[in-house]
Amino acid sequence: MTNERNFRIGVLGSGKGSNFVAVADACRAGTVPAEVALVLCDVAEAGILTRAHERQIAARFIPPGKFRTKLDEEAERAYIEALSAARVDLVVLAGFMRVLKEGFLRAFAGRTINIHPSLLPSFPGLQAWRQALEHGVKVTGCTVHFVDAGVDSGPIIGQQTVPVLDDDTPETLHQRIQAAEHQLYPRCVAALARGGVSVQGRRVVSCD
Ligand code: GAR
Repeated sequence: MTNERNFRIGVLGSGKGSNFVAVADACRAGTVPAEVALVLCDVAEAGILTRAHERQIAARFIPPGKFRTKLDEEAERAYIEALSAARVDLVVLAGFMRVLKEGFLRAFAGRTINIHPSLLPSFPGLQAWRQALEHGVKVTGCTVHFVDAGVDSGPIIGQQTVPVLDDDTPETLHQRIQAAEHQLYPRCVAALARGGVSVQGRRVVSCD
């Protein structure tokens, strides 16, 4: 008998859930030493809920309340309670399209991470792949970072580059970035689950 328990992840998503799938399947395969304990979603018909049910992972739609870009007070409380009851060690945002505010971030201080489809600090905000294409950069990519009170502004844990090709459309570029996300996110979550990450101000140092 051992007292050790698995490192537990709570995933928040709003969309199709391909990053959730990458992380959850890496956990099942043993390449990430963790388990997805709970998936929460703010969109009732989102694909991420189906992907979770297919994997027999607990998943719930929790209505976000009256605002368009953030959770209202009651919803924020419900999200915090659900994640706390599931005893999650890390909150993984996987395409969660709402900004998390102080109350949530206090409850999971230093334990909430996000993936963003650009090389931050370039192109924060919505449709970052489209912003990159319109700006004319030749290289873009994806970033995993800790979540702070700003938008896509917290300390950077990992990044992966992706070339922009001359004949790219927003769709082809987004697809190439997503393929990179599916490699980067499990790698970063694994480093955190192993305790191999330390934060020194804005600098995140991996000691893996
Ligand atoms: C991902 O590309 C992620 O980087 C992006 O949403 C997509 C979700 O896809 N997130 C943001 O833009 C957050 N600012 P998924 O549901 O297939 O994982």
